Amino acid sequence: MKKILVLNGPNLNLLGERDPFLYGSKTLDAIERDLAELAMKLGVEIECFQSNHEGSLIDKIHEERKYCHGIIINPGALTHYSYALRDAIEAVGIPTVEVHLSDIFSREEWRRKSVISDVALKVIAGKGPDGYLIALEELYDYIEGKNAQD
Ligand code: DQA
Repeated sequence: MKKILVLNGPNLNLLGERDPFLYGSKTLDAIERDLAELAMKLGVEIECFQSNHEGSLIDKIHEERKYCHGIIINPGALTHYSYALRDAIEAVGIPTVEVHLSDIFSREEWRRKSVISDVALKVIAGKGPDGYLIALEELYDYIEGKNAQD
């Protein structure tokens, strides 16, 4: 069975209470439960991991590099400056979809730039919690070779 790693970066553990207007009222637990349900339907294994620490996210990517076939990542604010996280994704060469709950491209100037996106298959932003589900479906199709355009 194929395995997909779902990573969430700094402050995403506060989903539900953190600025619900921007990020919605769903908790990370609820998002992960929905992902687990979809994963079961698709017949893939998922592992979810959240950390407020850049190095822990990088360690997780390194640890899982031999076992996972795809990564879904919302790097939080690391999106905008973590070349180390970007390099980790590039180094392991695992197909990665970048997700943002909010539309980073229509927010503050500094949020419009992602240093991760050039190593991601795709960026899904502004779709709220559904973005994670869309990412899982698209990553699954990609991994299973069902998406001719990729
Ligand atoms: C975010 C957008 C980032 O700019 C922000 O720092 C976050 C969440 C999003 O999901 O919209 O923590 O990645």
